[in-house]
Formats: sequence, C-alpha cells, structure tokens
Amino acid sequence: MSNSSIRKINGNFRGKDILSLEQFDANSIKKLFTITAKMSKIAKHARPSDLLKGNIVTLLFYEPSSRTFGSFSAAVKQLGGETVEIQNPQQFSSVSKGETLEDTIRVFEAYCDAIVIRHPNIGTAKIAADEAQFVPIINAGDGVGEHPTQGLLDLYTIYEKFHKLDMLTGVIAGDLRNGRTVHSLLQGLALESNNRIYLLSPKELRLKKADFFYYKKLGLTLIEIDNENDIPKNAHFWYWTRVQKERFKNLAIYEKVKNRFIVTQKLLKQKGNTHMIIMHPLPRVGEIDTDVDKDPRAVYLRSQVRNGMYVRMALIAMVLGKTG
Ligand code: NCD
Repeated sequence: MSNSSIRKINGNFRGKDILSLEQFDANSIKKLFTITAKMSKIAKHARPSDLLKGNIVTLLFYEPSSRTFGSFSAAVKQLGGETVEIQNPQQFSSVSKGETLEDTIRVFEAYCDAIVIRHPNIGTAKIAADEAQFVPIINAGDGVGEHPTQGLLDLYTIYEKFHKLDMLTGVIAGDLRNGRTVHSLLQGLALESNNRIYLLSPKELRLKKADFFYYKKLGLTLIEIDNENDIPKNAHFWYWTRVQKERFKNLAIYEKVKNRFIVTQKLLKQKGNTHMIIMHPLPRVGEIDTDVDKDPRAVYLRSQVRNGMYVRMALIAMVLGKTG
C-alpha cells in the first residue's frame, strides 16, 4: 500500500505488502511458520475453512504461470475466499489497449482485499505497492528480482526437515544470475547465522557480483564452484534450478549453458548423503533426472509443492489480519 511498500514485517503482517525477503527477520519467519503448520492441518483435515469468507483476492499475472498461479488460487479457496483471476492482461484486457500498470492496480484494488502480481520486469511489484492505496500487494515474481513466497516455502521445507534455519550447508545450482527464487532464498538464509552455501553454475550464470557481495555482507558464507566434484558431501539440501530461457537475449548462449549440471542417481551416490533433501522450485526442464523422483530425499514434487500452498494460505490470512 502507498508509502508502506518497504515496511519491515517486525512480527506484524497485517496490511503489509509482501515484496521481498528483505522485509523479514527471523522472528517474523517463525511466526509465519507457526501459522503455516496450522494451515497444513486445515488443508488436510478441516476443509472448507471460512477464515477468508467474504474476501476476494485478485491474481494479476503478466507472465506465464500455472504452478504459482494455481497455488495462490487454491490457497484462497482452501480458506473459503474467492479470486478474481487475470492472466496475460497485456494480451486480453485494457492493458492491451495501453492501460498503464498504475491504472490497472487502481482498478483492481476497487474489487478486492489483496492483489497478487507477477510481472516480467524487476521492481514492478514495488511500483504496484506504491500505487495501491487500500490493499496489500503480494509479489509473485518480478522478473529477475525476487519471488518471496517461493523463498518462504523453500525455507519452510528446509525448516520442516531440519527444525532450524541456521548452521546449514546447502548447494544451490543452475541459473543463479536470473533465477529470482534463488535471490529470495539466499536473502532468507542470510537471516540466521552460520549458513554455508555452495553456488554451482557455469561462469555465465553466476550471481551478479553486486548480489554476491550483498548476500555475503548479510552474513552468508558463499562458495562459487563450477564443477560437480566440488560439491560437499555434508549438504543439508540441494536446490536445483532451471536455466531461465526467457531472460536470454541470445539463445545461442542459452543452448551453451542449459543443463550443464544435472542431478542423477550417480551424482547422488557420489556426492549425496542420507539426510539431505533435494529441492527444485519447478518447472523442471531436465535439471533433475526423472529417475531421482522416487528417491525419498526428493521433495520437489512432494512436500515442497504442498508447502507452497500452506505458506500462501498463512501469508494471505496474516496480511488480511485474519489470524489474530
Ligand atoms: C519459478 C519462477 O517463476 O521464478 N517458478 C515458479 O514460481 N513456479 C522458477 C522458474 O520459473 O524456473
């Protein structure tokens, strides 16, 4: 909402925009996770809930999405709320007639209690938040910027398994330069101490230097590697990501760097351990062999997806002040 777009959460979610993991602190994350655990019980055993009865949430998606879109839509419905769903407004609505983002936000906020926005340009969720006067804005991915709800569900998945978010060793692989989920996850991991992250990518897809130093300054130990041999054997999690084809101006470069590192049974035997989990924000396009899916350590098509809906249920209920 106007002038509140960069407000820290500080344990109080009510009325706040959710734009970046930067707004969070360890205590706010714990608060969110307590409600998330309750939401998982509602989704599993106590449907339909009427927590969001009478509430409408607009999903305004300027970029293709089925997973995140579906997850938000289901999250609202799990809690008895309703959605106004707009996909590709640049093709099918007044936006195609030249309406500005600012006007679109002012129009849709008249219809609902919160707006979830995905957009191809970095910074757009913040612009929307500055424009909206009455309803909170939730960033569902702004270009190569951030994807805070994905970061939060990734952190929840790690927390669910290890009951902590500090003293972790992780491997994050793939498109670290363009992958917004990576940016949110790193920002989240920096909230607690002694986290050591190995960044595995071809040189072309490394974090931007400025980002690398920024996360380092926040307290993360970051080790850039470009060879699978350098993966540590004691990782708590592997987080593999898709090379973001849509962000490449030159597709020849994409072809050169795509699928350089693939999780296979063989790699798991060489470099894995029995306690770790294997994560992926999805969609996967070849970065993890389908053979690996049946491995109990592979959570990407299991708890990680479900946790996405639970975290979004919790977040929406909290920003709408429905959780006390
Ligand atoms: C991610 C995204 O959109 O950034 N996907 C998602 O949220 N479902 C990751 C990706 O597209 O690779």
